[in-house]
Amino acid sequence: MNVTELFETPNVISDTDLQFSADGQLRHLLTLRGLSKEQICRILDDAEAFLSPPGHAAVRTQALQGRTVANLFFEPSTRTRASFDLAARRLGADVLNLDVNTSSRKKGESILDTMYTLQAMQVDVFVVRDASAGVPAYIARNVQDHVSILNAGEAEVSHPTQGLLDLMTMRQHKPNFEDLTVAIVGDIAHSRVARSAAVGLTTMGVGELRLVSPEALAPDPDDVPGARILHKLEDGLRNADVVMALRIQRERIGSLDGIPGIDEYFANYGISHERMKLAAPNAIVMHPGPMNRGIEIESSLADSPQSVITTQVTNGVAIRMAILTAVTRRMATS
Ligand code: CP
Repeated sequence: MNVTELFETPNVISDTDLQFSADGQLRHLLTLRGLSKEQICRILDDAEAFLSPPGHAAVRTQALQGRTVANLFFEPSTRTRASFDLAARRLGADVLNLDVNTSSRKKGESILDTMYTLQAMQVDVFVVRDASAGVPAYIARNVQDHVSILNAGEAEVSHPTQGLLDLMTMRQHKPNFEDLTVAIVGDIAHSRVARSAAVGLTTMGVGELRLVSPEALAPDPDDVPGARILHKLEDGLRNADVVMALRIQRERIGSLDGIPGIDEYFANYGISHERMKLAAPNAIVMHPGPMNRGIEIESSLADSPQSVITTQVTNGVAIRMAILTAVTRRMATS
């Protein structure tokens, strides 16, 4: 998609308003902006009901029987794509995983023509990941009224289901957001995970949010209102209840000028057992994945009891089941 194509459709309503149908129901999930604390809590509560204990059968329903979900990932993914696939199947939907590399987009078909083609095959929900900002909203403005678009990762802008699964994981371990100090450490500048976490945590009334990075990887303060932007890891970790490590998003960085090399990065920003001694007792360690062990996180810490990284992955399926259920609830009547 080129920029001209993106701006062909005038943005008459904002992305946040676009998410809701006329009667206030969630239709698309494009961003966490505009969702109230009550709406987020309901999604987290719904997701809890889709969990089952380890070793037990996965929770299944037929809530999406007769519906079709298409996964369109124009950027690589393991967790998000697999969990949307499993979530949709566990809800009884038909699932189409479009192989983008062998699709007709390689022959020059526009993203909208790809959508219109799949929409004509009665796809009801499109799960979209793209490296260009604005793509999920652009598609949402152009699909039929009954169709839902779920943002599965939009450039460095937004990753709303990741934000929700991170909130769910934090709430399971630390139920009162108002009491929490959360430190997110790494390449904040290029991180859609950090931006969605910041929006979600602010809505939930987090006590303090610290964003810690080298100067070259710091966010624009206007992007993250209310967060403290720090550059010294020790300042970020001191008494933090939640520590989230992020990888350096080299695929989004034009010039590596000012970006520390691997050894220097781990020495200054790597989260280790030793450094976690600065954090609060019982602090949890998170990482959205994919993880670069030994660069942003000490490998043995990632596998330690302090780490909730695999819980984040488990919660990812439950959150995606909750979102798929929420956006299809209105379909029977639309
Ligand atoms: N956290 C996340 O989005 O992981 P994937 O890129 O593997 O989907």
